[in-house]
Amino acid sequence: MFSRKASDFFKASSKLFSTQAGARFNPKSNVFIGSAAATLLGSGLGIYYLNKNPAKANMIDEGLHSPTYPFQHAKTFGIFDHASIRRGYQVYREICAACHSAELVKWRNLVDVAFTEEEVKAMAAEFEYQAGPDDNGEMFMRPGILADPLPSVYANEEAARASNNGALPPDLSLITKARHNGASYVFSLLTGYYDTPAGVNVREGLHFNPYFPGGAISMAQSLYDGIVEYEDGTPATASQMAKDVVTFLNWASEPELDDRKRKGTQILIVFSILTALSVWIKRHRTVSLKTRKFAYFPPTNWNGKPKA
Ligand code: HEC
Repeated sequence: MFSRKASDFFKASSKLFSTQAGARFNPKSNVFIGSAAATLLGSGLGIYYLNKNPAKANMIDEGLHSPTYPFQHAKTFGIFDHASIRRGYQVYREICAACHSAELVKWRNLVDVAFTEEEVKAMAAEFEYQAGPDDNGEMFMRPGILADPLPSVYANEEAARASNNGALPPDLSLITKARHNGASYVFSLLTGYYDTPAGVNVREGLHFNPYFPGGAISMAQSLYDGIVEYEDGTPATASQMAKDVVTFLNWASEPELDDRKRKGTQILIVFSILTALSVWIKRHRTVSLKTRKFAYFPPTNWNGKPKA
């Protein structure tokens, strides 16, 4: 009884729906004409608005857009150039670390990435870290261990600003993730110092750099040919150092990249095999259905009238 009522209800409602739907898409109905007019008007207004307020790149506000450089790790299956990370750390340590921290990188993260454990332990031990309190309640200094972060020069933000004309050198741990076009932007910034062109005014203490939003940056050019000496004999040109330090900074931002790409490749291989297998199994299972032939043989004694 209930089920019959329910089925009647559904029949009635589906009928209603189909008649309404029929009315809505009937080109002659008012609803159709009305919605078409509304769509046209809406898109017209949209196009007008977009042309009134175009989203144009503004070099003064956003800086010159950096080219995208072919970093090895930026390719689909590319992983980090670890020799470059090692050289990049050297550039960071000898030049950038004078102003910039990279606090999210711990010494132990460098182990087996660009250095051996012994090398990293020795590097960490060269810096002093505050520890304690000891039995007398005093804080004391101890040499760095693998668990410590890379040391920062300044005790706090105010000290950092005070030493840099009020500008804050940002922590570089995540810098390639924190800027549009990441690694390529930082590379362009480091190699993008030019003489101030005629007609451009750069405030005292700032340096002309078209890639930095506003075109003037507080950071002076820090990379000059031959300013570091690489232990592996790579010629230390400014662009080579910029490439190496950017690779190091990109590794600091995305230390999981190598692993992620390796696992991604494995997954692609395994899933391609599984897909091929499932296609094969599907064909194998359905071959008897797909090759089945239906044939109709009309009765031979057909006289034009259907049989009773
Ligand atoms: C003498 C100090 C000093 C040195 C050395 C230095 N920087 Fe800077 N850096 C700064 C200051 C100050 C700023 C902030 C600039 C500003 O806001 O105008 C800055 C900003 C930056 C920025 C951020 C730019 C942005 O888009 O906000 C990056 C990236 C950077 N530095 C990378 C480096 C790298 C890599 C090195 C080493 C090769 C380095 N810096 C060496 C002082 C320094």
